[in-house]
Amino acid sequence: MGHLLVSDNDAIRVITLQRPEKKNAITRDMYRAMSGAIDSAQNDPVIRCIVITGNSGVFTAGNDLDDFLKDGTSGGGDERASDAVKFLYSLVQNTKPLIAAVDGIAVGIGTTMLFHCDYVLAGSSATFSTPFIHLGLVPEGASSLLAPQSIGYQRAFAMLVMGRTLNANEAREAGFVNTVVAPGEAAAEAEKIAREICTLPAEAVALSRKLLKPPPEELTRRIDLESRLFGERLRSEEAIAAFQAFFARKKR
Ligand code: COA
Repeated sequence: MGHLLVSDNDAIRVITLQRPEKKNAITRDMYRAMSGAIDSAQNDPVIRCIVITGNSGVFTAGNDLDDFLKDGTSGGGDERASDAVKFLYSLVQNTKPLIAAVDGIAVGIGTTMLFHCDYVLAGSSATFSTPFIHLGLVPEGASSLLAPQSIGYQRAFAMLVMGRTLNANEAREAGFVNTVVAPGEAAAEAEKIAREICTLPAEAVALSRKLLKPPPEELTRRIDLESRLFGERLRSEEAIAAFQAFFARKKR
């Protein structure tokens, strides 16, 4: 599929976002393809690890803002577009170790999906931002639950409510990045980590991983709550004005 490359490298499934002309902003098709790549790995005994990464030195600029604008101005219901929510459910229900390799920008869901990952590598020039507030939105992806648990309430507030950006070293100090590597090296290093995990006893890994994580039903409940509010916010004047301002700035 055009904007997403899924390849199996022995026991490792590698999901690569590849929409460089739009900074890998995630469309509905891309959410569907990412869900499919994660879901179809679940009952495949050959796949032992999943790596998610970007290309061209970019992880992702987050949800496609044109889709947000369409969601906000269409006459549909308040629920956030189901493809994004289904992708978030896929992350929650995933039982295979998930490794993220982040080079460049990780915006919005590009950062919040990392709280579902088991191991995160970042190129030293990577940045992590969740500008929900500037878009008139609220946090998503169960980040309102996972981020305070992972990095502490005050740091989560600065990121998720104040929209502060973290660089790679700050993200490692905060605790949601394991390792900082040279720019452009994150994907290759992630495959090394994946190979290490693949040598471990798979059933014991799966059970241990499950013990470490909050129960899936708690996460999906939070995703549903956030999605309801997010859907309402997408239709707010604040959000629609912010999306329009983003696209208008390109025309100046
Ligand atoms: N949705 C849709 N298109 C996006 C996008 C997004 N989230 N992020 C970037 N793009 C597009 C731009 O519109 C531009 O397209 P164009 O060349 O056809 O005009 C192209 O990608 C390159 O982006 P540009 O803004 O020129 O690159 P930059 O290096 O100056 O800035 C960002 C990169 C990511 C800082 C900036 O694009 C940005 O802030 N994007 C929005 C991020 C965002 O708010 N995401 C949602 C989070 S909830």
